[in-house]
Amino acid sequence: MMHPDLMKCFDLTGRSALVTGSARGIGLEIARTLRMAGASLMLTDLDLDATRKAAADVGPDVGALRCDVSDPQSVRDLAAAIGACPDILINNAGVGREGQTRDTSDDDWRFVISVNLDGVFYCCRTFGAAMAERGSGNIVNIGSMCGFIVTKPWGGPAYHASKAGVHMLTKTFACKWAKSGVRVNAVAPGYIATNMTSNPNPTRVELTPVGRLGRTEEIANVVQFLASDASSYMTGAVLSVDGGYTSW
Ligand SMILES: NC(=O)c1ccc[n+]([C@@H]2O[C@H](COP(=O)([O-])OP(=O)(O)OC[C@H]3O[C@@H](n4cnc5c(N)ncnc54)[C@H](O)[C@@H]3O)[C@@H](O)[C@H]2O)c1
Repeated sequence: MMHPDLMKCFDLTGRSALVTGSARGIGLEIARTLRMAGASLMLTDLDLDATRKAAADVGPDVGALRCDVSDPQSVRDLAAAIGACPDILINNAGVGREGQTRDTSDDDWRFVISVNLDGVFYCCRTFGAAMAERGSGNIVNIGSMCGFIVTKPWGGPAYHASKAGVHMLTKTFACKWAKSGVRVNAVAPGYIATNMTSNPNPTRVELTPVGRLGRTEEIANVVQFLASDASSYMTGAVLSVDGGYTSW
């Protein structure tokens, strides 16, 4: 049986959390996990109906709002609609677009960078600044092993550059707000079984030392740790959760 003091530092009771891109996949699983740890939750994604369904799935008192993180006005509108700045922000919304053989078009580049990198920047700027002013807050960004290495199958320049950018935004804001009571960390997943990896490719499993894709809860558990007081001395960290992929 775990000691109560140890359990307490993982507890999120009384804290509010906002998760972007949480209508499905890793974001939805993060929402479920933070809810289990006691947090009150606001889900947000592009499609409001899908977000409402996801929120109902997570719990009866879970909120749902539409937000396109790539649009700075949409992020400001989200902040206004929520009112009080959340205690915890999970910047999870992300996209991949490029196939292995296709060149990166202007549209591909802008699309991926605007969601994965601009989106994290807009959300950190809006909510992180309010957290710093309040003197408390916790941000967890979802980066990727693609922010450290070029993977097989090839992720394409926009995805790799965007995720490397997320890792550096994490460190930049962590330093900026460290003395204001705001921690900023990131998780860098390997291949996780979601819509993003639904196109079967045996290379993913072959090159992952543990020999399988990750499960969404295996990311959500680490996010919960970073969002809780259990990680109170951590800021600016980018944690690899990749079944060993980046260890070869
Ligand atoms: N699945 C993987 O193998 C993997 C690996 C490393 C990192 N990641 C990262 O994890 C995060 C979640 O990915 P996932 O695998 O759950 O993918 P997913 O496609 O299942 O979910 C992504 C969610 O983000 C939402 N979204 C897309 N554009 C948005 C926008 N402009 N504004 C708001 N929401 C938007 C989508 O509607 C969707 O609900 C992403 O940042 C992704 O880059 C995933």
